[in-house]
Amino acid sequence: MLLPYTTVISLIMSALLGGVLVRNGGGGMVEGAGVKVGNISKIEDAAYFRIYYGNTFKVIKNDLDGKSYLLIQSDSKMAAKTKYCTPRIKSFVIPLANFSLDVNYFPVSFFELLGLMPTLKGITSDRIASPCLLKLYNEGQLQMLNKSEPQQLSPYAAHFISYNTNQQTQSCNYVTFVPIGEQTPLQRAEWIKYLGVFANVEVRANEIYDAVKSNYMCLVNSTASKKLKPIVAWMDFNDGVWTFTKDAYKLKYIEDAGGENLDESINKITYNISSLEDLEQLHAILCTVDVLIDGTFTPDPIGYNSTLFFQNLNIEDQSCFAFLSHESVWRHDKRLSTDLALDWFDGAVSQPQLVLADLIEILFPTGSYTTTYFRNLLKGEQATTLGLENCNRDTLTAMEPTIITCT
Ligand SMILES: *[C@@H]1O[C@H](CO)[C@@H](O)[C@H](O)[C@H]1NC(C)=O
Ligand SMILES: *[C@@H]1O[C@H](CO)[C@@H](O)[C@H](O)[C@H]1NC(C)=O
Ligand SMILES: *[C@@H]1O[C@H](CO)[C@@H](O)[C@H](O)[C@H]1NC(C)=O
Ligand SMILES: *[C@@H]1O[C@H](CO)[C@@H](O)[C@H](O)[C@H]1NC(C)=O
Ligand SMILES: *[C@@H]1O[C@H](CO)[C@@H](O)[C@H](O)[C@H]1NC(C)=O
Ligand SMILES: *[C@@H]1O[C@H](CO)[C@@H](O)[C@H](O)[C@H]1NC(C)=O
Repeated sequence: MLLPYTTVISLIMSALLGGVLVRNGGGGMVEGAGVKVGNISKIEDAAYFRIYYGNTFKVIKNDLDGKSYLLIQSDSKMAAKTKYCTPRIKSFVIPLANFSLDVNYFPVSFFELLGLMPTLKGITSDRIASPCLLKLYNEGQLQMLNKSEPQQLSPYAAHFISYNTNQQTQSCNYVTFVPIGEQTPLQRAEWIKYLGVFANVEVRANEIYDAVKSNYMCLVNSTASKKLKPIVAWMDFNDGVWTFTKDAYKLKYIEDAGGENLDESINKITYNISSLEDLEQLHAILCTVDVLIDGTFTPDPIGYNSTLFFQNLNIEDQSCFAFLSHESVWRHDKRLSTDLALDWFDGAVSQPQLVLADLIEILFPTGSYTTTYFRNLLKGEQATTLGLENCNRDTLTAMEPTIITCT
């Protein structure tokens, strides 16, 4: 028997409005309206999801796609009676007994940090950046699922997807996980709490986010004393046209690393290299740039070298470019799998402190720090391909975050 829809709505409303609403800045325990809840996550930075705690259930509201997930504790009476699948609300019994992933651009590392690999049972492709996930697949722990056959995805308690595919085709067990919709690196990383809620591992999710955030903030602080702010252009080339990045999280990385982005008025413009006028303007702007990040998408990251960069930039007179004299042209595709899945879309999302540490080294070189995600095109640095042999822990154990030395 199903609870009437109105009953569920009123349960949710009482969670939203009643004494169990979790507000920013509270303690680790919330008690209210006769309800005792332990192990909660509070959202500090993320803008696009909210969590509400009831006595035997939780509600996550994903503000990017407008969906709410009613998560019912498996040991509650409601769990056996309640099942919702409407365009607005879906219900799940938690902790999830098992789940599958659409791994295409999915930051699997969030699950690895939480230690949820034992309940991951299916994936849609083996084109994955994570060496330990590859190894898990190789060990026969994961089912390979065909996305085009929805009945293969339905046996799992939840199927996580990383972007909002056609709403019409979303099945009842789909959960959208979209940290990439956030504006800053830390906001993206805080989505670990969104996943933690599905597995009752809020304590672990909070610990990881606290560790990542305090390391990130310490690194931000470490650049405070730098007087000179190098000017950075993060740009990409597509179909004959160069564009400066408008991705808010990339601009924030540059600021946090102690650099300066190009002025917004310049950022807006695109430059067609077939036009002499555009080329003149682009070269004039680049004469002010100290560090260039070439984020051009390529189907062949291994083959993308400085020759290709110069060809795309169409540069003849190179005398005015500081990023050339300082040999500072970078790409963020240093870590990738043998079939070219970039870890930039996985590990870099959950551990932004690693990206920030790279950028600080790029802007203020010490020569004693080896970058994780960025490679120097002008110094001929190659991409590092990762295979399952690069997995250096038991595949079922949780991954620990990498904390950068910071004083
Ligand atoms: C909270 O989490 C801790 C550690 O994960 C666990 O031992 C404890 O039982 C949990 N408490 C509740 C009320 O869920
Ligand atoms: C996946 O399913 C589709 C539709 O049934 C089929 O055409 C395709 O060959 C399948 N792909 C693989 C790799 O089995
Ligand atoms: C996943 O867990 C559910 C219980 O929620 C179970 O019915 C189902 O058989 C499991 N599926 C797989 C593929 O393990
Ligand atoms: C960073 O600096 C601010 C202001 O000086 C300080 O309040 C904060 O505690 C520092 N954070 C870390 C993680 O060092
Ligand atoms: C760039 O300019 C060339 C020559 O004017 C033109 O043919 C081409 O369509 C332009 N490309 C784009 C993407 O606008
Ligand atoms: C870049 O790759 C191309 C094609 O493999 C090669 O011809 C060229 O010499 C390479 N350039 C550098 C600087 O290694």
